[in-house]
Amino acid sequence: MKDVIDELERRRAVARLGGGQARIDAQHKRGKLTARERIDLLMDEGSFEELDMFVEHRSTDFGMEKSKIPGDGVVTGWGTVNGRVVYVFAKDFTVFGGSLSEAHAKKITKIQDIALQNRAPIVGLFDAGGARIQEGVAALGGYGEVFLRNTLSSGVIPQISVIMGPCAGGDVYSPAMTDFIFMVKDTSYMFVTGPDVVKTVTNETVTAEELGGARVHTTRSSVADRAYDNDVEALLQMRRLMDFLPSNNTSGVPVLPTRDPADRSEVALDTLIPDHPNKPYDIKELIHKIADEGDFFEIQEAFAKNMVTGFARLQGRTVGIVANQPMVLAGVLDSDASRKAARFVRFCDCFEIPIVTFVDVPGFLPGTAQEYGGLIKHGAKLLFAYAEATVPKVTVITRKAYGGAYDVMSSKHIRGDLNYAWPTAEIAVMGAKGAVEILYRAELGDPDKVKARIDEYQKRFANPVVAAERGSIDEVIVPRNTRRRLCRALDMLRGKKLENPWKKHDNIPL
Ligand code: HXC
Repeated sequence: MKDVIDELERRRAVARLGGGQARIDAQHKRGKLTARERIDLLMDEGSFEELDMFVEHRSTDFGMEKSKIPGDGVVTGWGTVNGRVVYVFAKDFTVFGGSLSEAHAKKITKIQDIALQNRAPIVGLFDAGGARIQEGVAALGGYGEVFLRNTLSSGVIPQISVIMGPCAGGDVYSPAMTDFIFMVKDTSYMFVTGPDVVKTVTNETVTAEELGGARVHTTRSSVADRAYDNDVEALLQMRRLMDFLPSNNTSGVPVLPTRDPADRSEVALDTLIPDHPNKPYDIKELIHKIADEGDFFEIQEAFAKNMVTGFARLQGRTVGIVANQPMVLAGVLDSDASRKAARFVRFCDCFEIPIVTFVDVPGFLPGTAQEYGGLIKHGAKLLFAYAEATVPKVTVITRKAYGGAYDVMSSKHIRGDLNYAWPTAEIAVMGAKGAVEILYRAELGDPDKVKARIDEYQKRFANPVVAAERGSIDEVIVPRNTRRRLCRALDMLRGKKLENPWKKHDNIPL
């Protein structure tokens, strides 16, 4: 028996070495960890159970039969993150550059199937060169099987992708279909075709970093949701994120112990709104002040900064926060901000995460750039996402709620459950100056008359009273009590049951 166990241990040791010590050293030299080191950091200590450690490819083309490495370039299995089950696959760049063969794909689809059947999140750690070139259609088919499972799991279990090295060709589409993509700065990049192909086809000269580095994807393309300085930070942040996420679409949000009192009053919020309506303030100050222990996990913090999205907790329970940011473009709704928030709202709705919306929006951004770029369709995405969402929705208008943007930002009219306004709220079709310029065009030559008209308009609409009188605002609240009001509202809404009419699926304006 001992011999058999010794032989097993020997084989395991060989498998754990992946592509060998020289390649592991090269990986470290590039500032990257190996697949197994990454999994160890992601999972609770000693909790990882590996599957399919001895799987090898079956390719015989191009002399591949002479080159087989146990595990075949991907480490798969399950473990726990802060005590909750999480499934994982991690590409091993030391083995055939982490490229995907038929056998490699089968390992991934096996863990995807187990994750879906057992309804727990799955994390993919990417560091790979795409389809295994020697395998041709077998590899392409393998990708298709992975993509199919990404689609079927979408909205059932959270799927997270972390890009920790090259991610090219077929490897980019699986992350693109998952809920969130995170990258590591300087060592990771994502593109469909690399710099050489780009040069050949379009004659552009770009580096891998310029084409698909973390900066590009977090600030311009919005393909990635956040980037971190190194592997360790990225994986520790993934552990933090997991604590916010439900295990699946019926489990409900995790509940973490908190010592932060639900009725904590924040006097500083009474003076958060500046005296002048055009002066900015930082909406994140409000978010940090109302969240349990000030803890806020921001999603897409570097993209469309005029909109803030992310996770916080109230009384230990996860909420999704969506907020206009007056510090950037006065918090205006443009195409990027609308798309960003729409996707986040839909994630929250899939996974039964209540949504708290803070509104200070001067309207939609005018101009040819926006209109030619499809602002109408992009703005409609956010409108659609909020309108179809059946999770508890609590809205607080802190200052401006102008025009169509008022309707869009989780208003009462699209099933906001509880809509509060601070006394500083202004709910109107547009700002006073713009309104007067349209309504009293004939008087525009007379500054005194214009001023009087602006004052009149402001008096009527630069407050929440008109909306409150109509019931479009449920209550005007004192800013310092916002956390207490939100906690009580979400307590009340915990039993909410709301169903949309039956349909195969909706037709959101993509
Ligand atoms: C087989 C691969 C491979 C691949 C890398 N390797 N990519 N083997 N299939 N796709 C191997 C290399 O031969 C090398 O083996 C080892 O992995 C490390 O690769 P290097 O090139 O030495 O590393 P590096 O210089 O860091 O470059 C990494 C890389 C580059 C940028 C990822 O390897 C690369 O460009 N690979 C090809 C990318 C690609 O075009 N993939 C196909 C995409 S098409 P040795 O033994 O020499 O160490 C695709 C279609 C799917 O994916 C579509 C589905 C929708």
